[in-house]
Amino acid sequence: MSTGNQDAPYQRPDPLAIFPLVARRPLQGLPSKVISHNSTYEFYGPFDQTQLAVSASEYIVSRSDASRKTISAELNRFLTVAAQDCYRTASPADRSDIIQSCWLTIRAYSATYEFKQPRWHRDGRMFDCTCFERTIPHSKYAFTLLGPSTLALSPSAQLDEAFDTARRVWQEDNRDLLEKSWKEGIQSQIRLSEKERPFLIERLRKFDPVPLKPTQIIRFSWGQPDSPVHSEPDSSATDRISSVFYLGVKKKSKICAKSEKRSTVRKKINLRGEKPKKKRKVTPEGKNVEQGLVM
Ligand SMILES: [Fe+2]
Repeated sequence: MSTGNQDAPYQRPDPLAIFPLVARRPLQGLPSKVISHNSTYEFYGPFDQTQLAVSASEYIVSRSDASRKTISAELNRFLTVAAQDCYRTASPADRSDIIQSCWLTIRAYSATYEFKQPRWHRDGRMFDCTCFERTIPHSKYAFTLLGPSTLALSPSAQLDEAFDTARRVWQEDNRDLLEKSWKEGIQSQIRLSEKERPFLIERLRKFDPVPLKPTQIIRFSWGQPDSPVHSEPDSSATDRISSVFYLGVKKKSKICAKSEKRSTVRKKINLRGEKPKKKRKVTPEGKNVEQGLVM
């Protein structure tokens, strides 16, 4: 990988980027359904693309009807695009370190009504990073192998104003409930955020999501005041397999999610990608849904 111009002033990457689809990519062999219970693959540690692609492919092939060859090619494309872009957009002081460690998560879920209505939010700080200056923008990379892509509203000053104002108004109107939920813990906070969801939907109704094609890779920042407003997509009509990838994860740090209300702290991660425990709840529609990392 080129080292680039180390003396060039650091330029902050755009909060949201959409990568073009390449012409010669596998068109057959993508998954059409999830054939196992809802599950999540996670790897957190040194970034070894070859090993990671093999391990992650194994997970997807074992839980869907996808072709191993296609999935391996798509995962390698995803990891290559993400690593190159992360390196290119990192500050010169961070480039050598930022692609050394990573966090890859893949979810294979049956159709669910949980996100029939969007859950608009910005991502908060997700983990301790390796960056020399921890305040610089961080990115995560996402793509979807089956089902609808993550919804992201096109960034603009008008959207920032509408979102921030709506959140402020709702918080001022629900100050007592907010204080109570923070004392009670994460489950109470999640329940309260569900009450906020329709309010934000109404306030952001005039803003359209950016159009994304299947398997199109996006990059969006987290932990920044202008990080993209996004949501899980409505996947009530189809199963979904999606992946999120982070680079620059500080070794031995505890992955945290202080501002991501629905995130679950993942502690035990190995190359087989299996977690020992899964918390499940049942939606009113009767679908099993694991509570976990959101995208
Ligand atoms: Fe998110």
